[in-house]
Order: sequence, then structure tokens, then C-alpha cells
Amino acid sequence: MTELYPYIGYRNGELEIEGVPASKLAGDFGTPVYVYSEGALKHWFREFDGAFSQVERLVCFAVKACSNINILKVLKELGAGADTVSAGEIFRALTAGISPEKIVFAGVGKRKDEIEYAVAKDILMINVESESELKAVGEVAKKLSKTAQIAVRVNPLIDPKTHPYISTALRTSKFGVPAEEALKLYREALNIKSVKPVGIHFHIGSQVSDVSAFGKAVKAVAELAGELKSMGVELLYLDAGGGLAINYDPKERPVPSKELARELLPQVESLNLKLILEPGRRIAGNAGVLLTKVIYKKTVAGKTLYIVDAGMNDLPRPALYGALHHIVPATAREGKTTMAGVVGPVCESSDTFAECVELPAVEEGDILAILSAGAYCFSMASNYNSRPRPPEVLVSAGKAKLIRQRETLADLIAREIL
Ligand code: LLP
Repeated sequence: MTELYPYIGYRNGELEIEGVPASKLAGDFGTPVYVYSEGALKHWFREFDGAFSQVERLVCFAVKACSNINILKVLKELGAGADTVSAGEIFRALTAGISPEKIVFAGVGKRKDEIEYAVAKDILMINVESESELKAVGEVAKKLSKTAQIAVRVNPLIDPKTHPYISTALRTSKFGVPAEEALKLYREALNIKSVKPVGIHFHIGSQVSDVSAFGKAVKAVAELAGELKSMGVELLYLDAGGGLAINYDPKERPVPSKELARELLPQVESLNLKLILEPGRRIAGNAGVLLTKVIYKKTVAGKTLYIVDAGMNDLPRPALYGALHHIVPATAREGKTTMAGVVGPVCESSDTFAECVELPAVEEGDILAILSAGAYCFSMASNYNSRPRPPEVLVSAGKAKLIRQRETLADLIAREIL
């Protein structure tokens, strides 16, 4: 087997996902189709969680990365909690059977009804991101005669050197509050009976490969946690967010999670706080692929273009961030490779999966796999161009199971008033 990623690779020239040929999956479920490997999800969860085994910890999977409840169930079985950013995500996590004591809720714009849902469900903590939000949490909890556990999301002002759209700790970022303001919020929280500050939170960005950025951030936050202790705030948790990068290129190796642990653990151990982590992409990103069929082949300005049946509505990352997802054929063909473009059918030039990639001779009807499609792909899919979203399939030990049906034309107008 020639492995591209754990559980994904070629056997006798056929791409397999956890032992099932991609061409068979495409035949059985149609294309485009998202396929995830349970073995890979578990592999990546254990690789991450295991790196922190020397401390008490809670790994809360960032639900926004891959929200299907069947995926959440797999991770729940391994002990995962959930990092959520909406009532919808809390609902998903609870439906998957994740216990409320393992759910954290972040986000700059939580509506009161969402806060109410979170407080009513007794989740572990709400990570507040502004003074107004702290007040809102206090009011909601009071109304429900509950005490809401909170953390303040601190902006440690670290440039994580990733795509600007997914950098969240710059001076101008909308997320969290700077250290001085955080101190003020904790002071205020001590005076609100219906809230209890139990944690401190930061998240610097996503797809971060320079782990020293996490080291700098945790130092800043640990310093603040020390001050809070002396102020009489009894913190229990340090929530270090998510953000660890994956390798979008199968030829590269991912940064080992142990390197992240090396940056975080000394600070966490000296503070004696329980560590919460919120990885999303790292767990799911390389556990999924999108299979798509070449519908047409055409030559434009001397370049071959493969027009596939998946579009930017199904997998928006290239159009949104200029992301490069590697594309490989389901069946490796002998012979010369060519440089070609791979584009979708959506009426926008940004609906381009690759401007120019090296592919073996590919014919109309062939199946291609867009790799690293387990995180922020289906969860960001839309119905743009009135295209029904693809199904999701989970492969476990050689067995493929449909975990979300393909949407139908009727689904597209189901909520419209006729
Ligand atoms: N915690 C918080 C508070 C977050 O905002 C995020 C991601 C995570 C954890 C998980 O980060 P991860 O471990 O997955 O990097 N759609 C973008 C990514 C947006 C990430 C938003 N926040 C993309 O496709 O690259």
C-alpha cells in the first residue's frame, strides 16, 4: 500500500479509503460524495490527545470543522468533548451524546437565545468575548436561576502567520479582549452572582504550523492567570483553543502534536490548571476526501481543463482562501502525466480546485479524489447555484455507511412558501 495519509492510499493502483476502493464508493453512492475514515479520525484524535497524556485534559473537538453527528459520536467514544460556536453546534454535540460537562461555547456574537440554550443545558463553560456579553450571560443565568460558568477569551496579540481570514489574535481582530480588559471583566464577573469565572481562554488562529506562536500566546495568558489567582479568581481551566496545522501536501509530514504539547505543557503544569484543547482541522482534515467525477475535458488557451461534478458550493476552501487541496485519481493510470486545471460547474471563475496540477492522463468519467477534505469542507458547503449538497459516507474497517443523504431537488425548495 502506498500511503498518502493514514488509512488513505493506493493498493494495486486503486485509491482506497480504509480498505474500500474510491471507485467503488463513487459507484455505490454517486458523485460528488464526501468519504471519511473512522480509523483515520481515531488515529488523528489519539495522536493529538496522546501528546498531552501527562496532564489532566479535555480535548473538545471543534464541531465547526466537521459537524455530522456520526463523526461526533466516533470522537465522543474516545472521550472527546465539543467546542461549539452556536446553539446549533451545542444541539449537535448533545445529540451525538456528548455530555454537557464536556461542551464549551465560544464566539463573538452569541445571541441571548443561544446563551439561554447553553445555560439551560448546563454546559461546561461559556467563553465570553466582551463586556456586553458578560452582562448578557449574567442576565440570562439569573433569569434561569442558574450559575453560568464562564471563561474570558483573551486576545494574546500574537500573529500566528496564517491566512488573514483565519488569524484571530491580531491587534485588530474582533475576537476576545486584550489582557487589561480581561482583568476588568474578571473583576466584574466576581460581582455578578449568576456567573462563576472558572477558566481562561485563547485561540490564536487556524492552520498554524509555527508552534512557537502557541508558546508565546500561552505565556501571555499564563501570566494573566497568575494575576487572576492573586485577585482571588479560582480558575480551574486553561483553554488553549485549536489551530494546529495539517499537511495539505501528502508528501510533507504534519507538525507532531507533541511539539504543540512541548510549547503548552510547561506553562499549564506550573499553573496547575486542567487543560482544554479545541482542535478541529487536525482531527478531521486528513480523515476525509471528496470524490468527484470528470464530466468534461476541454482545452482553454492550450491548457487541459477537467470539469468535475463538484463545485465551490460543495467544497468552498479554494474559492474562499485560495487553498490548495491535492487532487489524485481513483485509479492510477500508467503513462505520461500532464499539467491540467480542475474546475467545477459553478458560474464563477473562483470555482477552481486547481489552476494547474500534475495528473496522469484522465478521461471523462474518471473519478478524482480531492484530499484533506475532512475539515471545513462539507461543513461550509452551500446550495449556491441551487445545487443539492453531496452525501457523506463513513468507512469503518472496510464497511461504508451512509451518514448523510444526498440532498434532492425538493430539499432545495422545502422551506420556500409556495
Ligand atoms: N476554537 C476556536 C475558538 C475557533 O474559532 C476555532 C476555529 C477552533 C477552535 C478550531 O480551529 P482548528 O483546530 O480547526 O484550526 N474555515 C476555515 C477555518 C476557520 C477556523 C475558525 N475557528 C478554513 O477552512 O480554513
